[in-house]
Amino acid sequence: MKTLIIIAHPKINGFSFAMAKKYEELALAKNYEVETIDLYRSKYQQPFFTFDNENDLNVTPEIEYYQNKISEADELVFVFPYWWGSMPAILKNFIDWNFSKGFAFEYVNSKPKGLLVNKSVKIFTTTGAPSFIYTITGANFRLKKMFQKQIIEFCGMKLTSFNIYGGVDKSNSNTSEILNKIKL
Ligand SMILES: Cc1cc2nc3c(=O)[nH]c(=O)nc-3n(C[C@H](O)[C@H](O)[C@H](O)COP(=O)(O)O)c2cc1C
Repeated sequence: MKTLIIIAHPKINGFSFAMAKKYEELALAKNYEVETIDLYRSKYQQPFFTFDNENDLNVTPEIEYYQNKISEADELVFVFPYWWGSMPAILKNFIDWNFSKGFAFEYVNSKPKGLLVNKSVKIFTTTGAPSFIYTITGANFRLKKMFQKQIIEFCGMKLTSFNIYGGVDKSNSNTSEILNKIKL
């Protein structure tokens, strides 16, 4: 099993790194092969997504590098803090560039067809808001559905684990409790 962990947190001591490390430890204990992409510090930086012709993107060395990593992986694990109801822009930019038409999906008779079949996706994110509030308001469910329907299943992948942990703020009093909840 090959796992690709993709982390989008500006601070190396951000809680996303602790979650990713815990996941990696569990995966290595099961003899998974694990690779990590740290989007803020990767040497393959991508500027904000732009194109002359979206149907004919130039394959840059960065796209090639990331698409190879995605191709090789059996599972993708996204780890990030919840920002403005969604993911940090750097992660969205990563998806814009690298989950491109012809690689992640195509159109057949005007219908989208996912090309990244047989890959599973896991998500680990944290909100500042307490869990019960975002459960009641539906915010947690909206993020899950957006990822699942608009990105993961659109590209032919399967969401196998969605984890959104609330109340992660400056006090960080509940972080060890959260780390104990992380499962493969
Ligand atoms: C730009 C930005 C936007 C944020 N948006 C939200 C939000 O919409 N809802 C929320 O509950 N917390 C929000 N937060 C708080 C983060 O989710 C919270 O600080 C993070 O999960 C804590 O993890 P960390 O200590 O690893 O950064 C935001 C934080 C930042 C910096």
